[in-house]
Amino acid sequence: MAEFDFDVIVIGAGPGGYVAAIRAAQLGLKTACVESRETLGGTCLNVGCIPSKAMLHGSELFEEAKDGTLAKFGVKIPAPELDLSALQGEKATAVKELTGGIEYLFKKNKVTWLKGLGSFVDKHTVKVGDGEHSARNIVIATGSSVTPLPGVTVDNEGGVIVDSTGALALDRVPEKMVVIGGGVIGLELGSVWRRLGAEVTVVEFLDQLLPGMDDAVRKEAGKIFKKQGMELKLSTKVTGAEVKDGKATLTVEPSNGGDAETLEADCVLVAIGRKPNTDGLNLDAIGLATNQRGQIETDHDFRTKVDSVWAVGDVIPGPMLAHKAEDEGIAVSENIAGEHGIVNHAVIPSVVYTMPEIAGVGMTEQQAKDAGHEVKVGNFPMMANSRAKTNREPEGFVKVIADAETDRVLGAWCIASLAGTMIAQIAQAMEFGATSEDIAYTCHAHPTHSEAVKEAAMAVRGKPIHI
Ligand code: FAD
Ligand code: NAI
Repeated sequence: MAEFDFDVIVIGAGPGGYVAAIRAAQLGLKTACVESRETLGGTCLNVGCIPSKAMLHGSELFEEAKDGTLAKFGVKIPAPELDLSALQGEKATAVKELTGGIEYLFKKNKVTWLKGLGSFVDKHTVKVGDGEHSARNIVIATGSSVTPLPGVTVDNEGGVIVDSTGALALDRVPEKMVVIGGGVIGLELGSVWRRLGAEVTVVEFLDQLLPGMDDAVRKEAGKIFKKQGMELKLSTKVTGAEVKDGKATLTVEPSNGGDAETLEADCVLVAIGRKPNTDGLNLDAIGLATNQRGQIETDHDFRTKVDSVWAVGDVIPGPMLAHKAEDEGIAVSENIAGEHGIVNHAVIPSVVYTMPEIAGVGMTEQQAKDAGHEVKVGNFPMMANSRAKTNREPEGFVKVIADAETDRVLGAWCIASLAGTMIAQIAQAMEFGATSEDIAYTCHAHPTHSEAVKEAAMAVRGKPIHI
């Protein structure tokens, strides 16, 4: 009889967990994945990346029809009418197709889905419902959930104070929406509801939006969102909220202290970050502690301090991004199988899917300087890119940061309608240790938005053609 029921049990079926489970099975390991949701795919497929992109896409089409963009290109239509339930329906269909796709992949790869909440009995045993299942290796991929804001109680059912899950499912367009947190979720979902007709105010604790991104991008993003009609209250904190008759009254004050004021809204979105999910795992049973931020620490191979227990995704340190979780999922299973799974955490792109998109990879200019690099920076405005200009998408720029001595690219930041697609080539170039000259002398198809990347790289040496 086998010593264990499985070679690998993965706890959590988000992008970290389901990818780890599929890769482990592909490598010939007998694998199970524990998931408590009704559907596979985790935050990303159910209430994150995918539904938010459906709402972003639909609301963008609506805005293009409404603001005259379509008419400018000769598509004359009567004033558009919003059918919110159709938009929500299309979103639900995409989620169903994609989560069902993971279930199909589990069956195809013979991954057993253990349905229910998993918790440790010991370092080789997981309890799921009434059953106990043992494995030689256990991977924790339990992801993250919304960080609560004291004094502001989320009630997604009520629909007045909501988190991202509630904001994705509203059955009406709020008249006035206040978004608490000018980060990725606040700007993406704030954009959705602004495009659909809400008056949106973003309250951000810091003096700029999008912490962690390059300063030039943060400043420009602020200008663009303001121009689009969002009200930005920077350096401001929310200290309390009251809900009465379907309306919220928020008390806000300057972050550094000062006079309080109130803001009224019929919908408040709380988006101040996410925290790792470890409650209920019974980590005590295996003697595993979390760090100060509640994360599970791992080494470069994704091993925790407890032998045979591994962890990936939002529950470990690093950016909370689906593609980071997926790459870690592949690497952890390769390591469990005795191969050499590696994730280069220095080259993980991040993208905000607003219009224009905002993207970056590698170091910000400040991080590069703080790390002791003398830097050379090349900038190229999208206004001077022929395709962006022709498509009437002139906003934004590409910024390439290179080491002054070696010319090696250290990071790149970009605001452009297609920034999320454009950043991929820079990430790949960085993986190959590219210099700005390598990018500048790579032939780019014309006319494409990506030519702006080439020109920004040329600008590092001061020689772009089109500015
Ligand atoms: P998760 O996706 O959170 O999955 C963890 C799973 O584990 C969950 O399904 C949970 O039910 C399950 N689980 C937890 N505990 C247990 C337990 N004890 N037993 C059984 N199951 C358990 N990232 C991007 O890269 N691009 C985007 O466009 C993007 N958009 C986003 C939009 C929103 C609104 C949100 C909220 C997030 C978005 N993210 C995006 C972030 C992305 O969703 C996460 O980084 C990603 O899902 C993390 O994957 P994970 O596998 O670590 O965890
Ligand atoms: P975030 O960390 O991106 O932004 C939170 C913002 O809230 C920050 O700007 C912070 O300064 C601010 N803040 C914190 N406390 C505050 C307070 N009390 N009052 C006012 N502002 C406050 O977190 P967010 O937007 O909740 O997203 C969570 C995670 O989900 C992110 O880590 C992100 O990586 C991921 N995500 C990724 C997406 C993408 O890749 N396109 C889309 C959506 C989410």
